[in-house]
Amino acid sequence: MSPDQDHRHADEAGAARHLTLTVGAPAAGGTFVARHEGRVVFVRGTAPGETVTARVLEDPSEATSARFWRAETVDVLEAGLDRVPTVWPEAGVDGVGGAEWAHIALPAQRRIATEVMQDLLRRAGVTSYPLQDVQVEPAPHDMDGLGWRTRVRFAVDEHGRVGMRGWRSHEVREVGDNPLAAQAIRDLGLGAWTAPPGTEAVDVVAPSAGPASVVLIGRELDPAGLEVPQAWGDADVSVRTARGLVPLHGDGTVRERVGERLFTVSATGFWQVHRRAAELLSEVVSDALRAPRGGSAWDLFGGVGLFAAVAADQVGPDGQVLTVEGNRRASVLAAENLQDLPQVSAATADVTDWVRARKGGVDCVVLDPPRSGAGVELIGLLTAKVRRRIVYVSCEPSTLARDLAAAERAGWSVVDVRAFDLFPHTHHIESVTVLEPGSTR
Ligand SMILES: C[S@@+](CC[C@H](N)C(=O)[O-])C[C@H]1O[C@@H](n2cnc3c(N)ncnc32)[C@H](O)[C@@H]1O
Repeated sequence: MSPDQDHRHADEAGAARHLTLTVGAPAAGGTFVARHEGRVVFVRGTAPGETVTARVLEDPSEATSARFWRAETVDVLEAGLDRVPTVWPEAGVDGVGGAEWAHIALPAQRRIATEVMQDLLRRAGVTSYPLQDVQVEPAPHDMDGLGWRTRVRFAVDEHGRVGMRGWRSHEVREVGDNPLAAQAIRDLGLGAWTAPPGTEAVDVVAPSAGPASVVLIGRELDPAGLEVPQAWGDADVSVRTARGLVPLHGDGTVRERVGERLFTVSATGFWQVHRRAAELLSEVVSDALRAPRGGSAWDLFGGVGLFAAVAADQVGPDGQVLTVEGNRRASVLAAENLQDLPQVSAATADVTDWVRARKGGVDCVVLDPPRSGAGVELIGLLTAKVRRRIVYVSCEPSTLARDLAAAERAGWSVVDVRAFDLFPHTHHIESVTVLEPGSTR
């Protein structure tokens, strides 16, 4: 094969190919749609209306047969109206992950997220709710989308350098700063620290009450030899090895305040990430649930009991709330956090198994599954057992859309959707959807 033929072959196959693309509508996953010779290309690192040079990411051997290609922006030839100087120069196509829309103006991010969410619901066939009413709202008082992240996982390379993973890569990159992180996390100065040998990651939490928490993670780490840097001040410090969590300073938990109530959360356990999320979602769920006084409610995928507290308030002392969570430690903490509310009981179980085995129905349900969503089976079980309302808190609109369509097929209707930008400068969307039995069509 001559060099010319070789070049043409590579070109036909799209090998490491650079394309000039005109970028159009947003797609799921934070990308935008462009077309090249009829083929759809999902481009990252760009914005609607731009002309860019983009590198095709498809493996050359598979590019010809691929239905669509993925590409990343290497040069912006004509900037779109939504492009602004990035809020985090170290993030992006050639930098770290976690801020893939940092180069897009914040109001435009919300407009784009709204388009994505409406489109996912439409494609899934959700018809009982006017989709133009689904609008992504900012979190209250969030003016710049910075300083919101209360939980950050840092990566550590083989030399102990603490950084973050590259965008869609496992490579550990140095980071001088993370403007999305809460100030208490930035103040720890982890980028300038060298972790002890065997450290694989560092989990940092800036809770709403009490000191920050640092957890060094490494299967073979030796907690005995660890020297805590002065810059960490009064932060709690733990080590998580293959044998479990060993607290060195503090007890391996953090405290979160929502209104008057304090929740204890494991230092490595789930809690809403945006510093305003727990309070905001509690208020929205409280407005949405409408559990009757003296009635019953289930809080599914309940974590340490955030929404069970809301439900307990509504049903009152003569009602009953069951909170169900798969992680045993979180479930034990839920029982402790809500021990002043005798109407609440906590169960450790797989949610679908638990609902399937449950005899009898319930007035209202709040569910807050991980990104994989509730799933069609669980939705089928709930639509048969819930008498009044299902409030679905979601962090992934594609699985939400699938589940809402399943609820509609079972004869239920969507009566309200609130969507929130609780992950500014990323494409992620949080939402709270209310479902009721019966048809609105
Ligand atoms: C998005 S979090 C919500 C937690 C809680 N509602 C909150 O707001 O703090 C999802 C929770 O579901 C739990 N989980 C995931 N899969 C589960 C399953 N199949 N059964 C029970 N719990 C599960 C996780 O451990 C996690 O605590």
